[in-house]
Amino acid sequence: MLKAGYAQLSRLLNAIANWRYFKPAVFAGCTVPALMLGWKFWHDQLGVDPLKTLLHDSGENALGMLFAALSVTPIRRVFKVNGIQKVRRMLGVWAFFYALAHVCIYLGLDQLCYSFETCEFRAIVNDVLKRKFIFMGMIAFSIMTLLAITSTSGWVRRLKKRWQTLHRLVYVAAISAVIHFVWIQKSDISEPLQWAGWLTLLLAIRVYLSIQKRWATPPRLADRA
Ligand code: HEM
Repeated sequence: MLKAGYAQLSRLLNAIANWRYFKPAVFAGCTVPALMLGWKFWHDQLGVDPLKTLLHDSGENALGMLFAALSVTPIRRVFKVNGIQKVRRMLGVWAFFYALAHVCIYLGLDQLCYSFETCEFRAIVNDVLKRKFIFMGMIAFSIMTLLAITSTSGWVRRLKKRWQTLHRLVYVAAISAVIHFVWIQKSDISEPLQWAGWLTLLLAIRVYLSIQKRWATPPRLADRA
């Protein structure tokens, strides 16, 4: 029964991932949160505190895209859906795009840093040092920037095996982003805890799969000697 359900789900996921328009459809899906935010902005539907809404929505979208990118490999390996891999880089770049929008909203609207004259660099540095959640967000954003820059095929070729090691930093970015979210909350941390639960599940699957792979690989002759 469980096996049949698994096989059916795996077939369904493979059919979706191998669909001709899968990649354009995912791309179109990634634009929806930005369009919705633009719509709210344009129609004055950002609520009583528009800046808070803009920061909340852009931050959640960045987190959502980051976690979607992180979920690709576990889904591929657990359900044997190789076709899904082709959207991983795109999801990562979209995560960076939403994080960049989030940081621009913070700099432009919260810190009023939209021109050289209005930018108070010392105030921004003070804010980063004073509010620890901002510092954590900055760590997440710096890693995401590094990963977005090195996500091109040229960098994959240049860094060879080190590329994979570098891109494992995505987990550090995700952990920092969740801590950033937890530290913002004043009392109710149920929302960031849901993200933390998802991240724990993804990490557990990755650890399990790597242990399984190590066990399945026969030891090299040198190791046996
Ligand atoms: C330099 C980097 C960053 C800065 C300066 C920053 C700043 C902020 C600020 C000022 C808020 C609003 C806090 C409040 O409502 O009082 C916020 C909210 C949020 N940020 Fe960031 N952030 C950064 C990076 C990130 C990154 C990389 C992510 C996710 C990948 C993220 C996710 C979130 C989320 C989900 C919220 C919503 C929290 C809520 O409204 O409940 N942030 N951020």
